[in-house]
Amino acid sequence: MCGIVGYVGSEPAAHLLIEGLEKLSYRGYDSSGIATLHNRHFHRVRAKGKLEKLKEKLEGQENLATIGIAHTRWATHGMPTEANAHPHQNDKVSLVHNGIIENADSLKKMLLQQGYEFESETDTEVIAHLLHYHLTQGLNPQQALQKLQETLRGAYALGILFAQDLNRIYIMRHGSPLVVGRGETGHFIGSDALALGEWCQQFCYLENGDFGWIEQGRLSLWNEAGEPCERSFQHVSVVSENQSKEGYPYFMAKEIHEQPQVIRQTLSAYLDFETFGIKEDFAALKSQGYKRVQIVGCGTAFLAGRLGKYWLEGIAGLPTSVEIASEFRYCQKPIETDTLYLFISQSGETADTLAAHEIVKAVGAPTGAIVNVPHSTLDREVDLSLYTYAGAEIGVASTKAFTAQLCALYALSLCLAPDHKKLKEHFEVLKSLPGLVQQTVDRIEKEAPRIAMDLAKTEDMLFIGRHTLYPIALEGALKMKELSYVHAEGYGAGELKHGPIALIHAGFPTIALLDESALKEKTLSNVQEVQARGGPLYGLVSEGALTAEQEASFKDILYLPKTSEEVSPFLMTIAVQWLAYFTAMVRGNDIDQPRNLAKSVTVE
Ligand code: G6P
Repeated sequence: MCGIVGYVGSEPAAHLLIEGLEKLSYRGYDSSGIATLHNRHFHRVRAKGKLEKLKEKLEGQENLATIGIAHTRWATHGMPTEANAHPHQNDKVSLVHNGIIENADSLKKMLLQQGYEFESETDTEVIAHLLHYHLTQGLNPQQALQKLQETLRGAYALGILFAQDLNRIYIMRHGSPLVVGRGETGHFIGSDALALGEWCQQFCYLENGDFGWIEQGRLSLWNEAGEPCERSFQHVSVVSENQSKEGYPYFMAKEIHEQPQVIRQTLSAYLDFETFGIKEDFAALKSQGYKRVQIVGCGTAFLAGRLGKYWLEGIAGLPTSVEIASEFRYCQKPIETDTLYLFISQSGETADTLAAHEIVKAVGAPTGAIVNVPHSTLDREVDLSLYTYAGAEIGVASTKAFTAQLCALYALSLCLAPDHKKLKEHFEVLKSLPGLVQQTVDRIEKEAPRIAMDLAKTEDMLFIGRHTLYPIALEGALKMKELSYVHAEGYGAGELKHGPIALIHAGFPTIALLDESALKEKTLSNVQEVQARGGPLYGLVSEGALTAEQEASFKDILYLPKTSEEVSPFLMTIAVQWLAYFTAMVRGNDIDQPRNLAKSVTVE
């Protein structure tokens, strides 16, 4: 989603800003722009499309300004055009904005009455002109910001240049995250620390309502009430080497290949495979005596929760509900203090997940996060974070973060299980997991293109599975949609007769997920129903799960290494990831940055 970078210091700003935007590009964007300030004049360059377009425009321009702001935009208000790209400005103010201003229409009306003209369709331009208006009313920048804060409704992180203030970038935050980085040559701002890792190791995360400014060697902040406030800098080392594809054609391919290692790291953070014990920090959770678990998340993180439910109920015996954050935050569910509220998020910055967490926190119920980004807003707000050790995930479609979330959920279920003596079997199974995942990654990478060639020709498809393979059918459909732009549905196989079977015809493929579980025969009956209606069938199947006769129902099958029911969802995950990857490749899509999608969804 939108990204912000800003710099003020002793070096020319433009090249730093572009480098920062490159680091943020993984979040997904459709236009970009920068503005620098020199001799009270803004120099603004913007471009629609990829950053390359912006760089082409900047080529050959000498720009010695040592202060500037930059932005990658993911369209919300208005099409992805150059006119709608940030920074938005007038002769006094230039600014970049992440978030959504909910009362932009009424503010715009007021400004139009005051004679302001608008050149974009964005809510952001309203902020630029509103600040201009306050300056013309005699307020200084700081007063204008305070006034702005009282007026704006919605979510915002802002980086602002005032033409009258040559050495400061003004900043303000409500809802959307903003971080200040202290570098050797100056101060930076960023929508996340990842953009700034090359230059900074000391970061200060703004709290909601904070506003103020940075200059070369200084940060000054006021809180929501307008009182001066101190926020401390903390040491954060941002891993930047992961931003290289390391020889893979796409980040997604690299990230799929990293999964055996990520699984090993995440499991061993919580489980001791020598003693079959739960690691101590994590074991503390057990003494809390939770009666239930409520999982909340969005997208792939939500689907990890859907699978985690089976483990938390089956292994730990805890009734578990799972809800998408955008519903949970408005559903007025009673919040209970003997329930563990578990928020799952790769980025830790997803707006709906954060808002859902705030609701629970306000009541004082215990909150935990399964989160991949240390120091992210979610990590800082929850009572307890269970980290996933996936490293930076750059591909917009989540892969390794999902499997790491599954590991944390499995480990949590073991930790909360009433009788640890019965867990040895699970440890044995999990110990073999990285090796089996490695075999699956290598095998399916070779074999998936065969089926992807067929799938790429269709416009609709169905994924079906039962029990723990049902959430993976949902994840398969989500991955397929995200990457290939083919309409895909995921269904519990038993639900087929209640509607989706009407869709089956010769041009509508069904992908059935089958392992050696007690429900296999039931899924096979559903497979028969599809076959009887002439629907082409593809199988993702654990080796040895089908007889030759059963195999004959399928047009094609990808066989996964033979394994237990507990582990097969992990292997199936790898298979659906590769299927979506290769289908997207055949269709010529942008695999790492699919159209319209954002990695980190920081607006509602
Ligand atoms: C976006 C991403 C998804 C991700 C979801 C939740 O939609 O494209 O890949 O699953 O956000 O993100 P989170 O960072 O909270 O896991």
